[in-house]
Amino acid sequence: MNMFKLTGLLAKIKEADLPEAAELESVLSLESSDDLNTLFSFADLVRHEFCGEGIFLRGIIEFSNFCIRNCFYCGLNKNNLKIKRYRMKKDEILKSVELLAARNIKTVVLQSGDDSGIDVLWLRDIILEIKSKFDMAITLSVGERSFDDYKLWKDAGADRYLLKIETSDKALYESAHEGMSLDNRIRCLDDLKTLGYQVGSGNIVGLPGQTLKIIANDIIFFKERDLDMTGIGPFIPHGDSRFSNQDIGEALLTLKTIALTRIVTKNSHIPATTALGSLDKDYRMDGLGCGANVLMPNFTPQPYRKLYEIYPGKRCVDEPVGACNFCMDDMAKSLGRFIDYGIGDSLKVGRYV
Ligand code: 5AD
Ligand code: FES
Repeated sequence: MNMFKLTGLLAKIKEADLPEAAELESVLSLESSDDLNTLFSFADLVRHEFCGEGIFLRGIIEFSNFCIRNCFYCGLNKNNLKIKRYRMKKDEILKSVELLAARNIKTVVLQSGDDSGIDVLWLRDIILEIKSKFDMAITLSVGERSFDDYKLWKDAGADRYLLKIETSDKALYESAHEGMSLDNRIRCLDDLKTLGYQVGSGNIVGLPGQTLKIIANDIIFFKERDLDMTGIGPFIPHGDSRFSNQDIGEALLTLKTIALTRIVTKNSHIPATTALGSLDKDYRMDGLGCGANVLMPNFTPQPYRKLYEIYPGKRCVDEPVGACNFCMDDMAKSLGRFIDYGIGDSLKVGRYV
């Protein structure tokens, strides 16, 4: 596409209240390196304008790999009898939070499978204790729960919640998530927003059966929901899941989706995901160069870290706790950016103080 024409189209998409799916689709189908450079530079400028140069860190603790679901892409699916299941003890979790605090990180993401064995009050106590000991935001990422569970945890001090929609296409969603419904997923996102959580969602790029039109509609979904964070990562087939023989998601399409999401959502936090760093090379730097502004260092201790295998070849499974942190400092420096050790709340104006 002519560079002026493409820049004009991107500017139109940026200014639109709600962009048109066909326009997003045409950008997602760009292939020439000139076009991609134009797209990525435009997204980088939007990131600069709305998010600045700071890269926020979210330290992640994957505290349980039990799961009652059978998502066809995920290695933690309940039918996978090969992985050893674990649930970290309260003390182990708190110790990991302490390590994270010692590295000056001010957001902890407590993530698990959809684990029905997590006692609601047990998790509430952990939230209370973290909040009483540390100046830290808590993000929960523990799957689909009732309004009452979400409320209890919010009242205890949880600040944010991550629940990826994975795909906004009902037919595709329900074909990849046995026994689950898109409606309930959306109900959860609605409940979380009603309760005042800062809400993160996102998708997987390259799911079997996904089209560019579906990805375009995902981006419109992100815009409509005015998300505080949007996580976008490539599909990586796991040998012990239903999608084991499917093709891996493309890095380039993932980067195009990140760039467009930045242009459309403007100030949503966008992580350069671990999945993006787990392909043939580490594409997280590329992600940071085309719209992303968040990194998620892994603070899950061994032996658990190796066992949280949602997809194979996951980055940093052998790194010592804390190593990611230093590595990310280097990444920021080599991009001429810096790690922002602030709490990193939502950038949505006026919503959070
Ligand atoms: N490939 C890529 N991403 C995956 N996830 C789970 N399984 C895979 C996979 N095989 C992502 C989902 C989930 C997040 C924790 O990990 O988006 O929400
Ligand atoms: Fe883990 Fe680089 S991000 S070592």
